[in-house]
Amino acid sequence: MERLIIEGQVPLKGEVRINGAKNAALPIMAACLLIKGKCHLKNVPQLTDIKVMSKTLQGLGAKVTSEKDEMTIDASQLLQEEASPKLVSMLRASILVLGPLLARKRKAKVAFPGGCNIGPRPVDLHLKGLVKMGTNIQMKNEHIEASVNHGLVGNNIYLDFPSVGATENLILAASLAKGITLIENASCAPEIIDLCKFLQKAGALIKGVGTNILTIEGVNSLFPCTHFIIPDRIEAGTFMIAAGITGGEILLKNVELEHLKTPISKLKNMGMQIEAMKNKIQVKGCFSLKSIQVKTQPHPGFPTDLQPQLTSLACLSKEDSLIIETVFERRFLHIPELQKMGAKIKQKNINIKIAGVPFLKGAQVTASDIRGGAALVLAGLAAKGKTEILNPQHVDRGYERFEEKLAILGAKIKREKVN
Ligand code: EPZ
Repeated sequence: MERLIIEGQVPLKGEVRINGAKNAALPIMAACLLIKGKCHLKNVPQLTDIKVMSKTLQGLGAKVTSEKDEMTIDASQLLQEEASPKLVSMLRASILVLGPLLARKRKAKVAFPGGCNIGPRPVDLHLKGLVKMGTNIQMKNEHIEASVNHGLVGNNIYLDFPSVGATENLILAASLAKGITLIENASCAPEIIDLCKFLQKAGALIKGVGTNILTIEGVNSLFPCTHFIIPDRIEAGTFMIAAGITGGEILLKNVELEHLKTPISKLKNMGMQIEAMKNKIQVKGCFSLKSIQVKTQPHPGFPTDLQPQLTSLACLSKEDSLIIETVFERRFLHIPELQKMGAKIKQKNINIKIAGVPFLKGAQVTASDIRGGAALVLAGLAAKGKTEILNPQHVDRGYERFEEKLAILGAKIKREKVN
């Protein structure tokens, strides 16, 4: 067991390099299962989720080696059709091996995936799409058993919700299917675009990249390639909010401005000074934060993955704020923890009403998921006195060397073993 200890109220100052995007690296790692040969990935973040996905691929017979932020994946020999239930229970993105296994082996057995406790997180959209491509799906004691005897066949698929994971799984399945697959109401998140660019380099025929309508013409095989993972827009947004909540000034390096338009606009509305330059952003906090009204939405809307962090920031704005969480039914576990720190928040259904307070006070709080945990760290950085954060391993799933990067910016933060 570990905990993070933070002494708050230190304005963060300095530079931070943003890592590669976890949510782009994970689907691209799964995509390597489609390819016989060695794929080289660069700018891969070193996170526990990435390690779990690496082990999942190795369990299926792929050879995975990594050195710092570079990774090689060779799926020439795919021996297994069943992903390790223990590993799948740890990572939501494990469900993304389903499409590639059906494409390569015509069979797959995957436990219901785990991941952040932010809602029921069904996979019905993944499965409905695969059924339309000819897959037979059976549920057997918490496992998905899928088979497609004559191979996947392209079809027209409409997603009831622009699910990121369902879009990714169906792109992967369609890339080697017979014929053409049309995915309507697809997610157009930057991570989807990066996955498509990787697949196009490997020879996939995908049209409509970056839009909500994707057309994929299946090919017989894909070939190995090298790819540089896009920067992590959620890590970047988290550090922008860290500057805002501590009244500091941070230069973010290795960012993609195109991916951060909505968060930048919302943080500017709150009074933060943000200067964007090519692949850098200079962010300056202010002591009189204005209130905010925002609704989380699928990309290009305000990302749900920044909702908890923005909730922490809004606690210190001068007037009342309203944040509406439309994507995940239960992405609110950080709220009772923030209330322990003196936040005045009322959450009813998907509405989060925040009354600004002059300051937060340090307390012992518990992280329950990646972004909620990050939100508690940000609140601790702003709070008067000491904050203790239990279960920091949740934060480690999505942030590489988080407390180290914060300490370099001046934060008084350390990790301790709890016996
Ligand atoms: C991805 O999760 C991300 N994870 C999440 O980031 C992110 O919050 C989410 O997309 C939304 O942007 C990865 O990329 C590994 P969804 P995913 O399918 O694919 C419902 C983080 O903190 N839904 O777009 O699971 C679902 O219940 C994580 O880095 C169905 O109903 O998200 C949710 O309410 C957290 N049926 C909504 O859609 C389905 O078959 C969005 O889910 C699939 C999803």
